Amino acid sequence: MRKKVLVTREVFDETLEYLSRHFDVIPHQTSATLAPDELARKLQDVDATVISTSDRIDEALLARCPTLKAVCSASVGYNHIDVAACTRRGVMATNSPGVLNDSVADFAVCLTLATCRRLTEAEAFLRTGAWQGTHLKEMLGVDVHHATIGICGFGRIGQTIAHRLQGFEPTLLYTARNRAAGDVERRLGASYVSKDELLQRSDIVILILPYSAQTHHYIGARELGLMKRSAVLINMARGGVVDDAALIEALRERRICGAGLDVYENEPNLNRGLLGLKNVVLSPHIASASEPTRQAMAMKAALNCVAALTAGNPPDLLNPEVTKAGVMG
Ligand code: 8YV
Repeated sequence: MRKKVLVTREVFDETLEYLSRHFDVIPHQTSATLAPDELARKLQDVDATVISTSDRIDEALLARCPTLKAVCSASVGYNHIDVAACTRRGVMATNSPGVLNDSVADFAVCLTLATCRRLTEAEAFLRTGAWQGTHLKEMLGVDVHHATIGICGFGRIGQTIAHRLQGFEPTLLYTARNRAAGDVERRLGASYVSKDELLQRSDIVILILPYSAQTHHYIGARELGLMKRSAVLINMARGGVVDDAALIEALRERRICGAGLDVYENEPNLNRGLLGLKNVVLSPHIASASEPTRQAMAMKAALNCVAALTAGNPPDLLNPEVTKAGVMG
């Protein structure tokens, strides 16, 4: 009997075609997210699922899905999956690292420039007819070239961002759980500093660290207080890494100059306080959203799914302690 795979979100035709060569595929080709109850119902008798960051896989859901053997996410971040619960239930969990590094790094530069040069505010100024002719002191922004730029999180994507920024001739600082190798630091001209030193010295702070209990509210009122009043904060990581309420207060009181956000606490129901602020550039979690990259991410999730169900060895397995015997048996 062919195994069954639920694809929870709209994916590309080639992803469905590839999966259909191996399995009976249940697609969900709409932009609507499946509510937790609906997801559990649809997963009840399937062998694996290809998911996105909007699908929460937790203990309660897994308890309702006894036939599930693999959960394959089209994302590098996996804080939406309770990996420990998957392991306890013998479910393989996979993510899709690598293929999105370049697009996310491109977008980090885009959001940094847009925020520093007040692009969305300037466009609104023009569109609403407020522009009366060029004025020397109008729409003054923050220079990115030669700035001190601090990157928090220095994994694959953080390092790619550092590489992209070279043309701006920055003073580059980074902080991370693990210090990078000496040759990486030299190649990127990046100096390892403590989190507090980075916040105090940087003109631009870019967040690209994974979200976990340890990084919850990594940037809160205390950290915002350490930053320069002229500094800009860019969140490319996850909602929850920043305390959005504290950020709104800091932006309102101009305790920092501005922020560029691609991710939010409680997505997609972001704190409405952000919407009224001029000194923030907002994008709807699109850092990886180029067609080739999203295709590659979906295909990577599908490849992991096929490898999980046919051989028990998906390349991006997050919980290798799930033994082949345990899962395939
Ligand atoms: C999007 C991301 O969430 O890969 C991640 O972890 O945050 C982004 O790439 C993803 O594309 C949506 O599933």
